[in-house]
Amino acid sequence: MGQLRVGMIGYEFMGAAHSQAWRTVNHAFDLPLSARMSVICGRDEAKVSAAAAKLGWAGHSTDWRAVVARDDIDLIDICSPGNTHAEIALAALAAGKHVLCEKPLANTVAEAREMTRAAAQAQTAGVRVMCGFNYRRTPAVALMRQLVAAGRIGELRHVRAVYLQDWIVDPQFPLVWRLRREVAGSGALGDIGAHIVDLTQFVTGQLIGKVSALTETFVKQRPLPTVSAGLAAAGNGGGATGEVTVDDAALFLARLDGGAVATYEATRFATGRKNGMRVELNGSTGSLAFDFERMNELEFYDATLPSAEQGFRRILVTEPEHPYLAAWWPPGHPIGYEHTFTHEVRDLIAALAAGVEPTPSFTDALQVQLVLDAVERSAATGSWTEVEAVLEAV
Ligand SMILES: NC(=O)c1ccc[n+]([C@@H]2O[C@H](COP(=O)([O-])OP(=O)(O)OC[C@H]3O[C@@H](n4cnc5c(N)ncnc54)[C@H](O)[C@@H]3O)[C@@H](O)[C@H]2O)c1
Repeated sequence: MGQLRVGMIGYEFMGAAHSQAWRTVNHAFDLPLSARMSVICGRDEAKVSAAAAKLGWAGHSTDWRAVVARDDIDLIDICSPGNTHAEIALAALAAGKHVLCEKPLANTVAEAREMTRAAAQAQTAGVRVMCGFNYRRTPAVALMRQLVAAGRIGELRHVRAVYLQDWIVDPQFPLVWRLRREVAGSGALGDIGAHIVDLTQFVTGQLIGKVSALTETFVKQRPLPTVSAGLAAAGNGGGATGEVTVDDAALFLARLDGGAVATYEATRFATGRKNGMRVELNGSTGSLAFDFERMNELEFYDATLPSAEQGFRRILVTEPEHPYLAAWWPPGHPIGYEHTFTHEVRDLIAALAAGVEPTPSFTDALQVQLVLDAVERSAATGSWTEVEAVLEAV
């Protein structure tokens, strides 16, 4: 069997999640290519070497440019913060490597556009890209998309999407990279809002056309961190503070191009909500509802049933007929967060082997970036704002 030799940049949260996926994928799915975990990269020699041993990588490096230049690497997996995505992806594509890039694709539309152009150019030489919107690969979400496409909820009227976390409610939580615009691009908007933008467009098949938004930063100064990696960095205790330069919360109304209306809310200040990503769709003949904290379930209300039998019912999405699940456990034995990443690399490997473009492509991810950009412009002006069409943007 042919190999797919992977070099991964970043070894913390997404680095660990993607490692789990690369480690597992060929043991769960029958694929024409076998993933080889060749090299993991980070800036700290001791930490990246420990990560390589713990996560199962054959080698490690402290220089992503050296990893990109290696001729025994086929794919670069970018698991570092947003300010690094464009530079690493562009170098990798120029070197003829396939690229898997974490979301959001970039920190600005300009960067995302450049990456999309480079991907289109590289595609002519058989080089492929994917952006890591992993929640698409939750079986219940994939089933939701199938039911919408099959017309089971009729004409779509409402989309209601929230992504709620609470990890920075404490004003003493330090100024980690996710709270600095020059590293993260935006706050809750790009970090978690991007997921519900992609997910709702994926399940409905409709794109967001215009938005009316507000953003808020509740805590404007925070202690400087002693360690700036990850979600759980410690404060310095020395009293020095820095400015929070991103949104803590982003809310917007939207019109979708297929006629549905939508509301979105992304916040890190929803006290008590840890990873509450919920999406509800209401159509003319039914509704569907998903909550990531109950990720093996999908709620379905079928308004075509006799009224005496109507009611939301819970589909336990663990049957072998459900997307991805034939590879896992008997019915009723649930899967978890990490499986979304295994499914992501499964689909990526299958597309590479078939010589087709994986999804979401950089073009898809640029379109999400254009929505984020429209939200920020709308919040700044207080008016309804059109989302730039993706083809014009490229
Ligand atoms: N798909 C998801 O659900 C999801 C979840 C969390 C984060 N993300 C995305 O993944 C990316 C990484 O986030 P994270 O939570 O893993 O962050 P993290 O802070 O946990 O890890 C970032 C890693 O990048 C490394 N890094 C930073 N700058 C680097 C450089 N110049 N060269 C080499 N390595 C560098 C750090 O050492 C660290 O290992 C971000 O784009 C984020 O938006 C996606």
